[in-house]
Amino acid sequence: MSKTYNIALLPGDGTGPEVLQEGVKVLKVAAAKFGFKLNFTSYDFGAARFLKTGEVLPPNASEELKKHHAIFLGAIGHPDVKPGILEKGILLKLRFDLDQYINLRPVHLYPGVETPIKDKGPKEIDYVVIRENSGDVYTGVGGLMMKDSPHEVAVQNMIYTRAQVDRCLRWSFKYARKYGKKARGVGEHNTLALVGKTNVLTYVFDLWERAFNEMGEKEFPDIKRDYYHVDACCMWMVKSPEWFDVLVTANLFGDIITDLAAITQGGLGIAAGGNINPEGVSMFEPMGGSAPKYTGKNVINPLAAICSGMMMIEHLGEEKAARAIEEAVKNVTSTKVKSLAAGKMGYSTTEVGDLVAERV
Ligand code: IPM
Ligand code: MN
Repeated sequence: MSKTYNIALLPGDGTGPEVLQEGVKVLKVAAAKFGFKLNFTSYDFGAARFLKTGEVLPPNASEELKKHHAIFLGAIGHPDVKPGILEKGILLKLRFDLDQYINLRPVHLYPGVETPIKDKGPKEIDYVVIRENSGDVYTGVGGLMMKDSPHEVAVQNMIYTRAQVDRCLRWSFKYARKYGKKARGVGEHNTLALVGKTNVLTYVFDLWERAFNEMGEKEFPDIKRDYYHVDACCMWMVKSPEWFDVLVTANLFGDIITDLAAITQGGLGIAAGGNINPEGVSMFEPMGGSAPKYTGKNVINPLAAICSGMMMIEHLGEEKAARAIEEAVKNVTSTKVKSLAAGKMGYSTTEVGDLVAERV
């Protein structure tokens, strides 16, 4: 009997629905070819609903989404809604409610894709960032005191528990064992590097560093360990990205370095990510935002959404189908699209979806 996966679709705002539709198109073709079924249920969470009803998320949203095997999201954010409301109220709320404590962001430069880094190609730009997704300043612990006075105080705490750090590290070590450069046959070692700031954040990254070394020594002696300060890491991401294999870091640093990483792999038109709860329901999304000015024009690049769909079915265990989508995307980047930028692809959004779908 073929497997059936129930997928919640959150098309969201701006160009979110347009790119998600192409992701779904490609997934349907892959499912038919590789013999599994996908049941999609769409939810209208986003700006339009908020502007109409004043409600960011219905109270039962997280419980409703938990009934699915995975969530596939387009984009959240709208110029008519104050920044933070939808991002915190939908995206971050779901990440927290569903305890998606891993944010997986692959950084692979596909053939034919232009990188702003001189003399680097797909061989050099080929690593993964694992961003802890449940702690840090994202917990929202803090506050304002004496607001609007000259003595106003603002506090926003960087918070980590040992358990939070340990679960993220354990997943990361296992990931490096399975998908590191040695495992993929492109390097001598499977390496996990911690990205931190042990020279200044001497509490939080002291905890991370001890946890990293203790766990590595005891449970993962086969994985090579490395460490970078986050500032230096940004420099090496541009100068020597070939040094990297699997990087693991805290939430805020991960947010920042993955935008830098994204541009080295061709930008937000291709960068995909997964918010993963290894024991629960995970959510996959293109890293680009809602790109309001391109809404409805059929010019935005759907490859990031297609790649997040690929990550989703890989996570669900359909590895062959995922590889087929990846090969199709590589074929399209190397032989078809001229640029990944919106309006400059030489094809429309829907045509790029068709090109990938045909090749799957
Ligand atoms: C991301 C985004 C979000 C984040 C925003 C929209 C809240 O930048 O997914 O990287 O900071 O995590
Ligand atoms: Mn970000």
